[in-house]
Amino acid sequence: MGDFELLERDGLARIGRLATPHGPLETPTLLPVVHPDPGRQPIPPREIRRRFGLGAFITSSYIAYRSPELRERALASGIHGLIDFDGPVMTDSGAFQQHAYGHVEIGPTEILEFQNRIGADIATVLDVFVEPSADHGEAEAGVRLTSERARAARKGREGLLAVPVQGGTFADLRAESALEASAVGDILAVGGVVPLWEQYRFPELADAVVAARPYLSPAGVVHLFGTGHPMTFAFGALLGVDLYDSSAYHKFARRDRLLLPEGTVPLDQVRENWCQCTLCGETPLAEVATLPDAEREIALARHNLLVSAEEMARVRQSIRDGTLWELAERRATAHPALLAGLRTLKDHPEVFRSSEPESRRTYRETGIDSFRRPAVDRWRERLERFLAPTDARRPMVRRVPLEPNSLARIPPNDASGSPLGWSCPTPFGPVPIELIETYPVGPALAEAEFVPQPDAGPMSVKVFEDVSQALGREYPWNRDWVAEWTRRQVAALLRFRYGDEVAGPARARAWIGERSRRTGRLRTIREEDRVLFQIGNDGIPRPTFAGAQWLVEALPEGRERVVVDADAAPFVGEGRSLFSRFVRTADPTLAPGSSALLVDPDGALLAVGRLLLAPHEMGVLRRGIAVRVTAHRHVPAGPVEELGPDEL
Ligand code: GUN
Ligand code: ZN
Repeated sequence: MGDFELLERDGLARIGRLATPHGPLETPTLLPVVHPDPGRQPIPPREIRRRFGLGAFITSSYIAYRSPELRERALASGIHGLIDFDGPVMTDSGAFQQHAYGHVEIGPTEILEFQNRIGADIATVLDVFVEPSADHGEAEAGVRLTSERARAARKGREGLLAVPVQGGTFADLRAESALEASAVGDILAVGGVVPLWEQYRFPELADAVVAARPYLSPAGVVHLFGTGHPMTFAFGALLGVDLYDSSAYHKFARRDRLLLPEGTVPLDQVRENWCQCTLCGETPLAEVATLPDAEREIALARHNLLVSAEEMARVRQSIRDGTLWELAERRATAHPALLAGLRTLKDHPEVFRSSEPESRRTYRETGIDSFRRPAVDRWRERLERFLAPTDARRPMVRRVPLEPNSLARIPPNDASGSPLGWSCPTPFGPVPIELIETYPVGPALAEAEFVPQPDAGPMSVKVFEDVSQALGREYPWNRDWVAEWTRRQVAALLRFRYGDEVAGPARARAWIGERSRRTGRLRTIREEDRVLFQIGNDGIPRPTFAGAQWLVEALPEGRERVVVDADAAPFVGEGRSLFSRFVRTADPTLAPGSSALLVDPDGALLAVGRLLLAPHEMGVLRRGIAVRVTAHRHVPAGPVEELGPDEL
C-alpha cells in the first residue's frame, strides 16, 4: 500500500495526502485527462496547474503506446517529458478504449511494462471494462481476469499501482473485486461506471460504489473512473472518493456546453452573462458564443476547468467544516436523478456507520431528506440503547422548549410563572428532554427557524408533569427542583454516552452540573472541585484527565480505550499525538471525533484524545495521526511505569 495519510475527514470523505515520485497528491482532487499528444491538448498541463490549481493529471498510456511516434517520444523523455509536466502523472491502461471501441490491441504485461518504462507515478492495471449491461457470468469473468492481471501486475511493479474495481451492477462481484483490489492496489479505482453517469443512472452508480465500499481498504486511495462532472463531486466524496478523473471539461467544451456544479448548460441557450468567473468575466458568454470554433472550445474548456477546480475546493472546504452532507444535498437539486442517487446512499446507513463522526459543528437541514443522514441513524441507535433497559416509559417530548435558558429551568415556568412561549416539533421524532442538546438534535434545532406556537404553554406544562411523574413525586417550583433537574440531565447525558456503568443512580447523585449563565446549557460536570467532563456545543460530555481517571475505573477493560504500543506510550503520556502505527487495539464502538481513553498495554491511563481515525482504520493506515491528545497527565518526560496504579 502507498503511504496515504488522512489529515481531516467528514465521514468517509477524506482530506489526505499521497506521496508520489513527483510530489504529493492532495485529495480529494480531480485529475484532468490530458491527451498524450501535446498537439491535441487544448490547454497545457502547466497552464492548468498555474491557472486552476489542479496539480496532477491522468493520461492514456495506451494511446501513447499505439502511436509509434508518441511511443518513441515517451520512451525517450518519459511521460512527464511528453506532456511537459513535472508533477504527479497517472496513466490509464486502455480498458476505456475497450469500452469505447470494443477491443484493445495490447496485452496486460506489455502495457504495464510500458507504464513502468515511461515513469508513470501511478500505473493502472489493464482491467476488463464490465459494462452495466453485462450478465452475471460475463461480469464475473471480467472481475476474475482483472484480479489475475492485478496480482501479476503487482509483481511487475514497484511504484504506485491503480487496480480497477469492476463487477457491473452486481453487488457480490463489486464486493469481491474491491477485496481483490485492496489486496494489491495502492489506488482502488472503481470502474465500469462511465455509462451509468453518462445516462444519469445515479442510483445504480450509488449501488455500485456502496457494494464495493465496505471492502475497499482504508489504506487505499479511492478513485472513481471517468466521473468528472462537477455536479458529482460532493456525491462521490460522501462515498469516500479521493480521486476523480475526467475529460468532461474538454468533451463538453467541444459540444458547446458549460459545466456547472448545478448541471450542464448548452451555450446556445445562454441569453444572459450570468457567469462572471475570471474567464467569462473577461469574455462575456454572449461573446464566447461568437468566437471561432477552436477559440470557443478553449474558452469553454477553461471555464469548465475553473468551475471543476472551484467545486473540488468547495468539497474540501466542506469536509473541513463538516458540512459535506449539506453540500451534497444542495447539489442533488441539480437533477432528480442525482437526488435519487443521494437517497440511495441514505438507504445504506450501514456503509457510513463505522466512519460517521460522533458530532459536527452544525446540522443544517436543506430539505425533506435532511433527517435521513447517517448522523440520525447513529443517534437513533444510541437512543435505542439508552431507552432499552428500563426506560420504555420515560417522558418524551415531541415539542421542545427552546427559549434561551429554558433548559436551565425545566419545568418550563420560571418563578414569576410566565410560560415559555416557544416550541417546535422535532423532526427526529420524540426526544427525551434531557438529550435535546446532543448532536445532531441540538445543533439541528438550534439552526431551525422557530415559529411561535400559541398553544405551547399547556404542552410545556405537560413536559413538567411528565418529568415530575417519572421522578415519582411532585416537585415544587423552586431551586431544589432546578438542581434536581440538572442532576437528572447530567446522569442522562452520561448514560447516553457511556451506559449504566458510569451513570448509575448512586454515582449520579454526587455530580454537579454547571450551566452557562447566558444559554442555560450544561457546560461542565464536576465532582466536588474537580471538573470531570466538559460539554461543548454538540452536547456530548468529554472527559478531562480527572474524568478519564474516573472512567478507567468505572468501565470494563477495553471499553472506550485505545491501547497504545509500549514504544509510543511515554510520548502520548506527554501529550503528543498518537500515530496510527502505534495503535494496538481500539474499542470498535468509538467513532471519529470521539473522546477516548488512551492507555498503555497494561491498562494504565496515559491521556485523553479525540479520534481522527475510526477504530477499523487504526494501524491499517500506516502513516499519520490516529488520535489527537486533548488532556494528559502533566509529568516530566520519563518512563510511564513510574505512574503507579494507585496514582491513577
Ligand atoms: N476509464 C473510465 N472507466 C474506466 C475503467 O473502468 N477502467 C479503466 N482502466 N479506465 C477507465
Ligand atoms: Zn465562466
